[in-house]
Amino acid sequence: MKYVLETHGLTKHYGGVHALNDADFFLEPGEHVAVVGDNGAGKSTFVRNITGVEQPTDGRIVFYGEDVSFSSPLDAREAGIETVYQNLALADHLDVPANIFLGREDAYDAIKIPGLPFSIPLGPFAWMKAGSMREHATELLEKTGVKIPDLSESLAGMSGGQRQCVAIARAAGWGEKLIIMDEPTAALGIQETTRVENIIRGLKEQGIPVIIISHNLRQVFNLVDRIWVFRQGRIVGNKKTSETEPNEIVSMITGLDQGVHDNASYI
Ligand SMILES: Nc1ncnc2c1ncn2[C@@H]1O[C@H](COP(=O)(O)OP(=O)(O)O)[C@@H](O)[C@H]1O
Ligand SMILES: [Mg+2]
Repeated sequence: MKYVLETHGLTKHYGGVHALNDADFFLEPGEHVAVVGDNGAGKSTFVRNITGVEQPTDGRIVFYGEDVSFSSPLDAREAGIETVYQNLALADHLDVPANIFLGREDAYDAIKIPGLPFSIPLGPFAWMKAGSMREHATELLEKTGVKIPDLSESLAGMSGGQRQCVAIARAAGWGEKLIIMDEPTAALGIQETTRVENIIRGLKEQGIPVIIISHNLRQVFNLVDRIWVFRQGRIVGNKKTSETEPNEIVSMITGLDQGVHDNASYI
């Protein structure tokens, strides 16, 4: 197995809108890559089609050497792909452990006591479930270096940065095979952005592969090993970060020679 993820000829058309065309992509083990491109370039479409939110019109997706076709986001999660969305897809009314286990509560529907050869179904023992979810949530947050004073607080009272940290802790806890982040810091302030970037560096140290969609080239150049550039629904190239510079990436994004275009908004 050479790659974590490959796409071959991945294509998505919405009626007459050719949002993604013939995309060939690869991700090496442990690699962190960025997907960049102007608004409407096809970045989110690419993510939706590899994470089972939508089905591609054409092409292949290969995950750890095997052809896959995810019928839903849950299907992709079960295979080990976790996605963090820009719009902080968390449940405001629930507390931190409940959010981290959102959609996975069934993992705790029976409790296994060490030494006993069988599991005890929950019900009367629901408090044990809450306790073990809380313990596990604390562990995951510690792994990301996130400090949240009161885990039983609902997310509604937290800052955007704290919420995004919970979302990433959740992804890091489950997505050991691949984590995808679509503009994870777009809604955050400077300090919160730094915190999230540090968590991403921690994932690098743990060898967890990451695809990050970002508009922020400073962030991209600081964080990733390789940059993939999308333009008008096509992948127009990829560069190792160490072998390129922001001006070259901006030229690839715009399709214009530098100097002709006002590049300021990208840097
Ligand atoms: N559900 C949809 N129906 C029709 N067109 C869509 C849909 N989703 C995206 N598009 C179009 O596909 C193109 C790529 O969009 P998108 O993947 O969101 O770009 P990006 O994330 O790079 O900004 C755009 O022209 C967009 O308007
Ligand atoms: Mg997008």
